Amino acid sequence: MPFIFLSTMINSGSLLSSQQSELIIRPEQASSLPVEAATITSMGTQRILSGMRPTGKLHLGHYTGALESWVEQQNLLDEKGTRAYDTCFLIADYHNLTTSLDTSEIYSHTLDMLIDWLAAGIDPEKSPLFRQSQVKEHAELFLLFSMLITSSRLERNPTLKEQVRDLNMESLTYGHLGYPVLQSADILLYRANVVPVGEDQLPHVEITREIARKFNNHYPHPVNGEVFAEPAPKITKFSRLVGLDGKAKMSKSLGNTILLADGADEIQKKMRNAVTDTQKLRKNDPGRPEVCTVYSYHSKFSSPEQLSALGSDCRAGTLGCVDCKKLCARNISHELAPLLERRRYYETRMDLVKNILFDGEIKAKLIASQTMQEVRAAMKLGELAPIHYHGQTEC
Ligand code: TRP
Repeated sequence: MPFIFLSTMINSGSLLSSQQSELIIRPEQASSLPVEAATITSMGTQRILSGMRPTGKLHLGHYTGALESWVEQQNLLDEKGTRAYDTCFLIADYHNLTTSLDTSEIYSHTLDMLIDWLAAGIDPEKSPLFRQSQVKEHAELFLLFSMLITSSRLERNPTLKEQVRDLNMESLTYGHLGYPVLQSADILLYRANVVPVGEDQLPHVEITREIARKFNNHYPHPVNGEVFAEPAPKITKFSRLVGLDGKAKMSKSLGNTILLADGADEIQKKMRNAVTDTQKLRKNDPGRPEVCTVYSYHSKFSSPEQLSALGSDCRAGTLGCVDCKKLCARNISHELAPLLERRRYYETRMDLVKNILFDGEIKAKLIASQTMQEVRAAMKLGELAPIHYHGQTEC
């Protein structure tokens, strides 16, 4: 039976068009918003926010490194049976511009990525899903934050240095240097307390904390003392999955991935070329699981009993790589089968997928505009227009 997010389907029938959504999030209307939107801003619950740049279809590394834990945190209940966290997930499409000015595929990549999120079990009823580019407050807060950090601090960012080296970049744009500043705006706009990220993103969360501190010091909140809480990073256990070629990271640009959209046959085929222990040349040579790519996948996708049997049989030279790979491919396909089924469901309902985004963006805009009002108030940047002001002035 195909997997269906029933609540999403019911709700999507009444979703507003993007134009209407612009109307709904005007700050002065916030108090009359539907309960559904209001609950997103519920106080007290810890908020988790994470995001990805839209790079199209996702691979197994995204699943083990991020999606799996996002879904777990989204569905986690506390002892009272209510959700332990508010969760929001952001599509960082502006961030794509830091490394490529070609925007022709950003939207199709966004939709492909969104389908993978949904297929992995992200429930848009629980977690608003939205594009950075559609919530103008990201750009606004980015501008203000860019005054709170020095360019030399940003030049020291190790993730940036790595990227410049890997991509052989000769020069750097102002926007690329500001990558972590935009990310800080992404996180603090929603006042996230916890940010699940891969290890390479830790420097960015650190910069976010510094910016939050600097803002709070300069601009105390008129009532609460502080506008921003300092968010904590959360690293996932399998944050990096080795590529099929044995390289340290599964990555689309290296062509060493298993995609979440790959079927069983495709996975078997790709697995055949996976690198194993290069010293194990024949079936009966003893192998070293600790250096084997396929064994590292088994440690994630196979049962503990299978894993210990595989380890000892490989070491003893009684298990060949061909059989070991077949089992590994089967176990991965087994885990991905429900995702594939959900992917098929969404792929044939693109209007629903697009509505999920618009819906998430309505919710995101509401939170973002509230934060910006507090930011402006703390910065004493003037007063808001009176609620019933309609723009009639006498000349
Ligand atoms: N920089 C992140 C990455 O490349 C993506 C991202 C953008 C992000 N904004 C974010 C992650 C906010 C967490 C929170 O993986």
